[in-house]
Amino acid sequence: MSDAATTPGPSHPRTALVTGASGGIGEEYARRLAQRGYALVVAARRHDLLDELAEQVRERYGTSVEVLPADLGTSEGVAAVAARLTEDGTGELAPVDLLVNNAGRGDGGPSRTRTPPRSTP
Ligand SMILES: NC(=O)c1ccc[n+]([C@@H]2O[C@H](COP(=O)([O-])OP(=O)(O)OC[C@H]3O[C@@H](n4cnc5c(N)ncnc54)[C@H](OP(=O)(O)O)[C@@H]3O)[C@@H](O)[C@H]2O)c1
Repeated sequence: MSDAATTPGPSHPRTALVTGASGGIGEEYARRLAQRGYALVVAARRHDLLDELAEQVRERYGTSVEVLPADLGTSEGVAAVAARLTEDGTGELAPVDLLVNNAGRGDGGPSRTRTPPRSTP
């Protein structure tokens, strides 16, 4: 992942859309991308957690964060994310340069509560 935070030419910041950003791996991706200067669009069902993340990221890294509540198990949720991905920068919203399509759940439940498997010799 490069540290480049702006696209040459266009005046908008490089923007990453992260699905499943309310926890686990997606939240970590969002934080690390913001640290590298990306503006964020964060999507998931739990609006409150996205709001908390957005507040922390804005305060810590000074980057812009859009909160996009969406249930990707529904056609409405998919349409909302797809609509954001098709923004081309001619309106107020920056186009999305990078998609981290992470939403979902591992078989073992939320990553933060899991014990890593032991490696066998
Ligand atoms: N952890 C692992 O070891 C592992 C291994 C292989 C693959 N993966 C994959 O990596 C991804 C993230 O795993 P994780 O361990 O970070 O999972 P996690 O901690 O359970 O987080 C899942 C994230 O996806 C969101 N999400 C779940 N269902 C959604 C839906 N219907 N619509 C929108 N957002 C939804 C959750 O947000 P809300 O609940 O707020 O919607 C949450 O932000 C998953 O796709 C998982 O299958 C994980």
